Amino acid sequence: MARSSRRLSDWTFSSITVVILLLLASCTVAVKHHDFKRCEQSGFCKRNRELADSMTEKGGPDSSPYHLDSASIKFKDGQLDGSIVKTLHDNEAVKLPLTITFLERGNVRVTIDEEKRKKGEIELRHGSVARKERYNEAGAWALTGAGLQSQKSSSLRKVSKDLSEVTWGPEGRFKATIRHAPFGMEFWSGDEKHVVLNGRGFMNLEHWRPKVDKPVADENATAETAAAPSEDESTWWEESFGGNTDSKPKGPESVAMDITFPGYGHVFGLAEHAGPLSLKQTRGGDGNYDQPYRMYNSDIFEYELDSPMTLYGSIPFLQAHKKDSTVGVFWLNAAETWVDITKSSHGGNPLTLGLSGGVVDTQTHWMSESGLLDVFVMLGPTPQELSKSYGELTGYTQLPASFSLGYHQCRWNYVSDEDVKDVDRKFDKHNIPYDVIWLDIEYTDDKQYFTWDPHTFPDPISMEKQLDETERKLVVIIDPHIKNKGGYTVDEELKSKGLAVKNKENNIFEGWCWPGSSHWIDAFNPAARAWWKTLFTYDRFKGTMNNVWLWNDMNEPSVFNGPEITMPRDNIHYGNWEHRDVHNINGMTFHNATYHALLERKKGEVLRPFILTRSFYAGSQRSSAMWTGDNQANWDHLAVSIPMILNQGVSGYPFAGADVGGFFGNPSKELQTRWYQAGVFYPFMRGHAHIDTRRREPYLLGEPYTGIMAQAIRLRYALFPAWYTAFHEASTDGYPIVRAQYYVHPEDEKGFAIDDQFYLGSTGLLAKPVTTEGAESVDIYLAGSENYYDYFDYTIYTGGSKSHRIHAPLDKIPLLMQGGHIIPRKDRPRKSSGLMRWDPYSLVVVLDSNTQATGSLYVDDGETFDYEQGAFIHRKFVFADGELSSTNLGTKGSKTAQYLKAMKDVTVEKIIVVNAPASWSDVNEVSVTGEGIKGTASAELIYHAAAGDKAAWAVIRNPRTSIGADWTVSLPKTADAKSEL
Ligand SMILES: *[C@@H]1O[C@H](CO)[C@@H](O)[C@H](O)[C@H]1NC(C)=O
Ligand SMILES: *[C@@H]1O[C@H](CO)[C@@H](O)[C@H](O)[C@H]1NC(C)=O
Repeated sequence: MARSSRRLSDWTFSSITVVILLLLASCTVAVKHHDFKRCEQSGFCKRNRELADSMTEKGGPDSSPYHLDSASIKFKDGQLDGSIVKTLHDNEAVKLPLTITFLERGNVRVTIDEEKRKKGEIELRHGSVARKERYNEAGAWALTGAGLQSQKSSSLRKVSKDLSEVTWGPEGRFKATIRHAPFGMEFWSGDEKHVVLNGRGFMNLEHWRPKVDKPVADENATAETAAAPSEDESTWWEESFGGNTDSKPKGPESVAMDITFPGYGHVFGLAEHAGPLSLKQTRGGDGNYDQPYRMYNSDIFEYELDSPMTLYGSIPFLQAHKKDSTVGVFWLNAAETWVDITKSSHGGNPLTLGLSGGVVDTQTHWMSESGLLDVFVMLGPTPQELSKSYGELTGYTQLPASFSLGYHQCRWNYVSDEDVKDVDRKFDKHNIPYDVIWLDIEYTDDKQYFTWDPHTFPDPISMEKQLDETERKLVVIIDPHIKNKGGYTVDEELKSKGLAVKNKENNIFEGWCWPGSSHWIDAFNPAARAWWKTLFTYDRFKGTMNNVWLWNDMNEPSVFNGPEITMPRDNIHYGNWEHRDVHNINGMTFHNATYHALLERKKGEVLRPFILTRSFYAGSQRSSAMWTGDNQANWDHLAVSIPMILNQGVSGYPFAGADVGGFFGNPSKELQTRWYQAGVFYPFMRGHAHIDTRRREPYLLGEPYTGIMAQAIRLRYALFPAWYTAFHEASTDGYPIVRAQYYVHPEDEKGFAIDDQFYLGSTGLLAKPVTTEGAESVDIYLAGSENYYDYFDYTIYTGGSKSHRIHAPLDKIPLLMQGGHIIPRKDRPRKSSGLMRWDPYSLVVVLDSNTQATGSLYVDDGETFDYEQGAFIHRKFVFADGELSSTNLGTKGSKTAQYLKAMKDVTVEKIIVVNAPASWSDVNEVSVTGEGIKGTASAELIYHAAAGDKAAWAVIRNPRTSIGADWTVSLPKTADAKSEL
């Protein structure tokens, strides 16, 4: 949760304010704009936009003051080193070391530093203890170290005095041209140009300079005494916002670059924003934003929709897409970052942005407050290759404990251990599966984490034991703010060991959050992370056992009385880095510290930890799930959750969900029901509600709503094998778990902007949740030439890039299966996913127009790391030539044999073949061969003829094939022969 931050902070200050605010809250629902900056209120954003405007006026980059010194260029083993010189108004030169690395997979990294700061030859104002270097550790947190190998075979050619060219990439397919004056780069594949750096001259690296106090109204000021006669210094040295003054001991230090994608009409990514998947233009005009997309992790109270405002997490990774080509940019910077996006079209009709033969270019402008200019360019050319590249650099999604794919039940708050037990029993009474129940902040004793309220949670262990009987779990919240209170040992240790974040005077920073006065753990400090581990052991965090997992909230960090509800930028972290330099990474260091703490709760106990985080950065996918924060119980918030979650997938962080039902406010029964139907397609599915809302556990709504929601949750559990397989793909290849239209059909231009329908993994399952009130139908767009079939009744919808209207009364989830896929399922309803472990499988084979289909399945124990030693099953299913076969995709490891033995009796109990050929109508038996089957066995086939608009289908009953074995199920040859006629 984390929620009405302002409201609750005020609560701690005065109960009168609370009453007033509660009254206000019931009639107004709006983000407090005055709490957060607009570009023109952020000095560096304003300065860089002004620079962009003046360059645009000049019509090109020619006056850009950055020149690559040709004599400085050294090229060796795929790496270019050189020096960029920035020439100032008085002809003084600033040296900026440049490194360009041409990487194995076809990516390029361009890094620009500042020599004076690298050498520490600057002076800080106000006696600051901050480091003098530009922040150069973002990579140490975000990157895994993989994918950074330069391609030794790449070669440099001097084209002219002012132009160099590097060839590299798979089969030397890529070419980069480097213009020396002004510095700029173009990236080519074959004879097509895909990405341009500094093509518009917006490059800017604000060099360090001393502050010169100018006498007032000194008309005789010269270049020696003023940095530049015409420059406006008003935002250089100090900036005030919301009553807080940033002392800016290093003065102006932003980095910026324009990056253009010629011919690319769509850009996706830059999580997290509440808007459409295809990012909008940001410099005004009809239907556009007038603000850049902002990334500055913030606790935004009641966020607004269709907005480029910053939210809780940041991933500065962007994919540009056009028909049959996808390229990307990863801007590795941890400071506040803004990105302007504009599009221009040439040729064709300018109003249709590319759909009528014209070409669209997308231009982006990246601006960060501080740090290195460090950018990766990725040449794809498919969305899948980009996911792989980005995942290789920043890590893939951690394969989660399987329970975390189940339904999570949360509210602020379950008020006592008895309350939790009661909710648990009621789910069972109503036959609704769930896996996890959650506790928000009120379980603690006076908001002191690692304690329990002695009155309301006197016996947490008995509560956890009751949950464990059905293999259910408990998640409790622990935030990074530690109550500032004498006698609270956690705070006393934090202080005495010097592990907290410090203020600009280098003393322990104190601010306000849920507990009132608080201190913040500095998880950048290895000693702080080591100490954090000691707090979670079972004998230290009493009242927990091994089915208790963690929720890390408020880790932007949220500071109720801080500027923009966060820490002052001049706070000091471990290594003496300023908070401004590391802000967007802060949340990740905290949830990662929790992840590692949970790995070591007890010697010998190695379970995959589950952690939910609100704040995140590139790399967070390696250890945690995320959710979209404090949304509202209204239809628009339900609708926006889909593009937001799709964008998390594009941004390499697919284990994502939105609060089902909406956090603030009370959903109508219809809205709540529709939200559950959509929520079963979130990779992370959790119902959650604010403390002021009415209870809304799904069993409370009454019929028909409760029954419909229970059906939806059971659908999620039936598709568990498909979900887990999709998570496995994310964990090995970086693919999104739910996939946008453009991602699955990168050739189909009509689908590029579609962001309200999506595919589940590689299964060909296409869902389009209903997100409008009173709707009785939805229109769904079907790409590809194959037909689609209704998941529930096999109604046929013809493919071929067109839309179909699907009847969708309240009890219906629009869900189709594309021909050509095999979908694994488990059809026996259970109380939790853990209890399904030994259940048999069903396979749904959806034949394509050639009577073929393929699919895959990944299975492991769902809780340990034994899969790393081969304890898993990974199968490929193929239907062709009248035979369905299962073959091994997995590699072998030391624990494979043991695992296969344990899984020997887990079988396929049912094969459903949709779009079964009419020639099967007189077949009533199939033969089964394979490992563990003596000779040839047989199984019954029951055929159902096509009727009306519904496809024919067949069921093969109980082939008794083991899920981990090789086997083949064969139709009689005669039936197959007939199907070919
Ligand atoms: C500027 O220079 C002129 C000529 O040297 C001098 O008379 C005048 O006092 C100076 N003004 C200021 C404000 O220093
Ligand atoms: C995560 O924690 C581990 C263990 O403390 C540490 O080695 C690693 O650098 C951390 N990574 C991030 C992204 O915080």
